[in-house]
Amino acid sequence: MGWNSWNSFANIVNSQIVQRQAQTLASNGMKQAGYEYVVIDEGWWLGERDAAGNIVVNAKQWPAIEPGQKDGDMANIAAYIHSLGLKAGIYTDAGQDGCSMYPDSGPKYMSTGSEGHYDQDFLQFSKWGFDYVKVDWCGGAKEKRSGAVQYALIAHAIQKAEKTTGRKLYFSICEWGSQNPWVWAPGVGEIESTIWRTGGDIIPPVVESLHDVEHDKRVITSGNVLESFEAGLHPEAQHTGYFNDLDMMVMGMRGMTDALDRTHMGLWVISSAPLMVGTDLTRLSQATLSLLTNQEALAIHNDPYGLQAIKADEPTPGIQIWAKPMAIRGRRAVAILNRTDASAQVKVDWKKLGMKGTPKSLRDVWNKRDLVALDAAVSVPAHDLALMVVDGEDEMPAEYPANQTNIIGIQAFRGPGFARLHYANTTGHVVVIRMTNSSGLSTAIALPPTVGSETDVVGLILPKGTADLSFEGQGAAIGKLDVYAW
Ligand code: GLA
Repeated sequence: MGWNSWNSFANIVNSQIVQRQAQTLASNGMKQAGYEYVVIDEGWWLGERDAAGNIVVNAKQWPAIEPGQKDGDMANIAAYIHSLGLKAGIYTDAGQDGCSMYPDSGPKYMSTGSEGHYDQDFLQFSKWGFDYVKVDWCGGAKEKRSGAVQYALIAHAIQKAEKTTGRKLYFSICEWGSQNPWVWAPGVGEIESTIWRTGGDIIPPVVESLHDVEHDKRVITSGNVLESFEAGLHPEAQHTGYFNDLDMMVMGMRGMTDALDRTHMGLWVISSAPLMVGTDLTRLSQATLSLLTNQEALAIHNDPYGLQAIKADEPTPGIQIWAKPMAIRGRRAVAILNRTDASAQVKVDWKKLGMKGTPKSLRDVWNKRDLVALDAAVSVPAHDLALMVVDGEDEMPAEYPANQTNIIGIQAFRGPGFARLHYANTTGHVVVIRMTNSSGLSTAIALPPTVGSETDVVGLILPKGTADLSFEGQGAAIGKLDVYAW
């Protein structure tokens, strides 16, 4: 959770802009709500290196902030962000050239990527004090590289840098889904916890201060938000610590209405997608801010299983029931998405959410109140989204014991299914097992180390059909798998 400069500032980003956004994040309630990263996206350097290959930045763009600091040192802004109790993020590209264009459409700057300098650059980011790095794919795509290979090399450079500085550098993969990263990104390079972008950009940036013809005509539509949500649906790859990234948020930006803000927040929350707000925070309305900081919505987002929602039902075309399995037994978050032009009265069929009987309680998240009539229809306005948390009783799961190498023939015939995987991993490193299914899906599942004799549980979404889990010879002991009836 945090803020990213790209959507609202593109390549015009500089120290003053970042300071102002960080101050706002620290004082408008977002920091308290859990937004912690301030990420400087593309535009912070223009491809210049010194004779030793070190990145050189523009001294005017990144001046000293405190006495004793040097102009043109990125450590200045990282220290400033830290002084507000926040974490600092930076950006590079996996290839030689990055995407870099000013302001976002041209002219192009060459050599803004890290290829050939992976160890040097990631160590530099960490020494400057950055805690997060987003790694883009413009150069990688141009050179027709393998994402799985390059991002594994980068994961290793990050791990080396972390060892040297003792500072965690969170890895954000931005490969736009072009080489199916959900297949290889979970645990790539044995990295513990990562996110990977699943699609192209939600919008071209809207830089309000530019007032050029191009930027002035950019308006966000519900199509932008829904397409990013749909491009990100790879629930089999997502589990605790490993997340599909639906892109930076556009809440409150030009074209967004209250209903569309609710839809956007609801979909990102129920997907446990990174909440990296791309809006100019100084322009947020109270309504948008209160959605972004809605604690009950954020509790859904921060559920320890971190699963994506399953489309449980579409009772009439355009009315969709999305349900997110939660770590607490019998609990789900439910989003009712109305994609139609008319308001709708929607009655949820609880059986389709794998529940025995009617729920015990139902919470309306936007309005922070309990709903008393548990079987009544919920009213959802046109192009809006209702968000609820429901507690009830689960149907009994089917249990699959593991043998030494795999679990085969796991069945989820009604649709994507929800499962709890019990495992132990005493290897001391991340173990990547593979899930394959009858319709050709093959995805990586990363299992971080467990402590001592304790076993851990991760939630998983199984693809529709029959699936196998294989963990041959990799030292993770799978206890059993419980598969629920939805
Ligand atoms: C790509 C990424 C964006 C942003 C821009 C910068 O398009 O997907 O998120 O980082 O590059 O050019």
